[in-house]
Amino acid sequence: MYSRIAGTGRCLPERVLTNHDLERMVATSDEWIRERTGIERRHIAAPGETTADLAEKAARRALEAAGVTAADVDFLVVGTTTPDVVFPNVGCLLQDRLGIHGCAAFSIEAACSSFVYALSVADRFVAAGQARCALVIGAETLSRIVDWTDRTTCVLFGDGAGAVVLQPSAEPGILSCHLGADGRYKDLLYFPYGVSRRPEDAGHGEGAFLQMKGNEVFKVAVKTLEGIVQEALDANRLDCSAVDWLIPHQANLRIIQATAKRLGMPMERVVLTLQDHGNTSAASVPMALDVAIRDGRIRRGDLLLLEAFGGGFTWGASLVRY
Ligand code: ACO
Repeated sequence: MYSRIAGTGRCLPERVLTNHDLERMVATSDEWIRERTGIERRHIAAPGETTADLAEKAARRALEAAGVTAADVDFLVVGTTTPDVVFPNVGCLLQDRLGIHGCAAFSIEAACSSFVYALSVADRFVAAGQARCALVIGAETLSRIVDWTDRTTCVLFGDGAGAVVLQPSAEPGILSCHLGADGRYKDLLYFPYGVSRRPEDAGHGEGAFLQMKGNEVFKVAVKTLEGIVQEALDANRLDCSAVDWLIPHQANLRIIQATAKRLGMPMERVVLTLQDHGNTSAASVPMALDVAIRDGRIRRGDLLLLEAFGGGFTWGASLVRY
């Protein structure tokens, strides 16, 4: 038994913030942002609009695309770094909004890799016959933890949500998922406090904002992504030439290009959304998947390679027959 993707959906907040808008906020330029990152614009949640709001809209679209109703969902997992509240988790908030009760509902926090982590857990439950309709979501309002006066981070991130419905199938489906993490890198990309670690314990100058040593993250990301992607291919005795579409985490165009180059994958077979979405952390992979399915690039039977890398560090990859 395998799990297969039955439907996808996404939701982006209405407000668009362009590079030119950012030029008026910090000492940056459209040219610098495009050259160094590939990003042109990003969507920003409205005041009061939360991660669960975006997740709900993406979920409803994915359910519709799969031809199922919320009542069919029997497993719900949300990957997010920016939950509405500490608890109830976003999965429970979403379950209540969808009017379903009783099934497992939880969230996974693995920064930008959260969706790939969530997908791998849901895949195991569906493939084992323990769930028949799993709703898997990556959703973020990263704009809430970005320092809008810090040009080294604020130009990178955006908000959004992507959703996938998984159902059982005798045919593959998700071929395999591969996850990894290394906490030694905890100081290169982090948010300085939460509940147990209080704001007063945060380091001098950190504030309530995401902290990143971008250059160092970049180097580890390129090397690690190459390894995890190769691991996924090797596990299935496949060569990169078999892959129809690479759907990478949308952090930086240069990271994506480096990964594609090392794999020998032409950029025409890479789904890019970061020019329009920025880095939406856990939401980036499912949103890119939904974009390319809905615009007709990805077709039934195509082989997809999903990958992500984020704070922790955490990383993951999945080979999927759509
Ligand atoms: N506009 C203009 N200049 C800038 C800006 C900006 N927005 N930001 C930085 N600069 C300047 C720097 O101050 C520096 O100036 P200096 O040389 O005078 O000191 C210069 O540009 C170069 O800075 P670098 O940090 O070396 O630039 P780099 O080419 O590394 O690009 C970037 C920075 C885009 C952040 C890149 O390092 C990157 O993408 N890193 C990886 C990010 C990532 O993958 N994160 C993981 C996922 S996110 C998550 O998990 C939540």
